[in-house]
Amino acid sequence: GAPVKADITKLEPGALLRVKFRGQPIWVVSRTPEMLENLPKNDSKLVDPQSTVPQQPEYCQNPTRSIKPQYFVAIGICTHLGCSPTYRPEMAPDDLGAEWKGGWFCPCHGSKFDLAGRVFKGVPAPTNLVIPKHTYLTDTTILVG
Ligand code: FES
Repeated sequence: GAPVKADITKLEPGALLRVKFRGQPIWVVSRTPEMLENLPKNDSKLVDPQSTVPQQPEYCQNPTRSIKPQYFVAIGICTHLGCSPTYRPEMAPDDLGAEWKGGWFCPCHGSKFDLAGRVFKGVPAPTNLVIPKHTYLTDTTILVG
């Protein structure tokens, strides 16, 4: 499939934009400064906090798993059996536990991912979410693929 453009001009802080690439959902999230501050706080509860498994291009193997810390781009498919996880950016909703600082919850079998798509321990998904190859054409246009 051809690469696809995501226009993030109107993406509000904390919001998630969806585009399709090769029939797959691609997410772009504008992370707030608070979200970025919280990212390292759950490292001990994650399966692969340093993203050693190559689920991302090399240029995204960093603490935010992104090119620019603010913008997180990922393939919106659970690494367990392929459901699409639900965006749950809010802090500690009752059903996700006190450690929850926002991320994604997979409704199929309960996998949890943080706001860098890193999987929590003790859930069925084995690896972090996949980050597709992407690049910035301009400050507000991302090319995925
Ligand atoms: Fe997401 Fe099973 S498909 S937890």
